[in-house]
Order: sequence, then C-alpha cells, then structure tokens
Amino acid sequence: MNEQSEANAGGWHAGDYGRNARFVADLATDLIEWLAPVAGESILDLGCGDGALAERIRETGADVVGLDGSSAMVAAARERGLKAMVADAQRLDEVEGIDGLFDAVFSNAALHWMRDDPQRVIAGVYKRLKPGGRFVAEMGASGNVAPIHAALRAEADSRGHDPDTLDPWYFPSETTYLDRLATAGFHIERSHCFERPTQLPGDVTDWLTTLARPFVTAFADGEARDGYVAAVRERLAAEMPHHDGQWIAPYVRLRFIARKPNQG
Ligand code: BEZ
Repeated sequence: MNEQSEANAGGWHAGDYGRNARFVADLATDLIEWLAPVAGESILDLGCGDGALAERIRETGADVVGLDGSSAMVAAARERGLKAMVADAQRLDEVEGIDGLFDAVFSNAALHWMRDDPQRVIAGVYKRLKPGGRFVAEMGASGNVAPIHAALRAEADSRGHDPDTLDPWYFPSETTYLDRLATAGFHIERSHCFERPTQLPGDVTDWLTTLARPFVTAFADGEARDGYVAAVRERLAAEMPHHDGQWIAPYVRLRFIARKPNQG
C-alpha cells in the first residue's frame, strides 16, 4: 500500500464518523431507490463505511456484503450484523474471498476516495457483476466542497507539504466519469449531477478532523496540527456561509446507474 492509500484506508474512527458525518449516509437514503434492490439479490456495498446504508438495503431482503478499507468501519458494520470484509476497493479485481458475481454493486461517498486509478476501480466493479448487473453510485463531483478543498491544499502548501501527495480526493466531472464507465463497457442508464449545499452537524473543524484526516494527520498531533486546522478554519470563515455556528458546505454530487451488458 502506498502512503496515500494507507492514509485513505487507515485512521478512520467509527465514533467520530457517526457523530460528524452521519449526514453523508442520511442524505443518500434515496440512492437506495435508484438501486431498487429486490429480495434475494446479491449486492456488494463498495466502501460500506459503518454499514448504515447496507443495513437499509438488507431490510429489503437483499443479501448484502460490505467492503471497506478501514477495519474500524468494517467492525462497526459487523456490529450491525452485516457481512463485511476489509479490502482495498481500488484493487477489487484481485480481492480474494468474494464468492461469485453480484446482481448489483452499490457505492455511496466512497468512489471519490479512490484516486489512485479510477479506471481500475470501475474495471473491478465490472468484473464482479453478473451479466446484466448494475452499478449504482453517488460520489463527489467536480467542485465538491471546493472552498474546503482549496483551503486544505493552500494551508498545507504554505507549511511545506505537497498538496498533491496529501490530497486523497478525486472529484471528476460528470462527463469524465461517465466516459470512464463507458470505456469499461458499461451502458449508462441514468445520471444526475447536482449541487447539494449541506448543513454540517457541528463546527467545520469537526468535519475537517473527521473527513479530511489525510491532510490533518500529516501534521504532528499538538500545536502543528491545531495550527493547521485553525488556519484552514480561518480561511473558511471568510469564504463559506456560516451563521450562529451553523456551516453550509457546498457539496456537489454525481449519481449514476450503469449496467453491464448481458453479453460481454
Ligand atoms: C463527500 O462525501 O462529498 C466527501 C466526504 C469526505 C471528504 C470530501 C467529500
């Protein structure tokens, strides 16, 4: 695992995530309507996190397996009684221990963490689907959390860290990602790219320390890290809407349904 993948896979804290990022799953509940799971179907939840959405999919009678790079998240998913495994989703093509092919692969807010080789991620999904199977996902798209992203990069840069090395996120345009899906052999059945200004549950600092960990943990715990987070917050205080302690983050999402042809 390279430094960046390690940062992506490690360091997740299920409790912090539950407190500061539960909205990520809550806001994607209707993505399950896009998935339209049917009882008895086998579904892989790619980047399942703590299993909040996999649990809802399972309630439909589908047989769900979660996969995540974080052992802490997989442990939280298993506590819900879900089948879940620790594996690098960026190497889905070679993950061992997955039996058979799936009717559907589902993914929420995970694909934008897979920056190393997005085409390989898509090829891995394709390989794991039955002919006629569907890939249904939501991810951050071009412009997602743009002021936060820019502030994290600029403050890292000004402290001597290469932002490109720290940056874990891949926020493609709709055209770029749909082209990638088509290149892999998928037929695009539906897509929607949209802005979703999102009220954060607490101060933006909580968001930074929970979801921007690969940036934040590049700084030694203590003064250096606190100084970095405070400087990012100060930039954002001037650039992002916030009133009475409520912060609105400019999320931009891409959703799609892509189908593997019946032959091929
Ligand atoms: C997102 O869900 O859009 C997101 C999550 C973590 C970091 C950046 C964006």
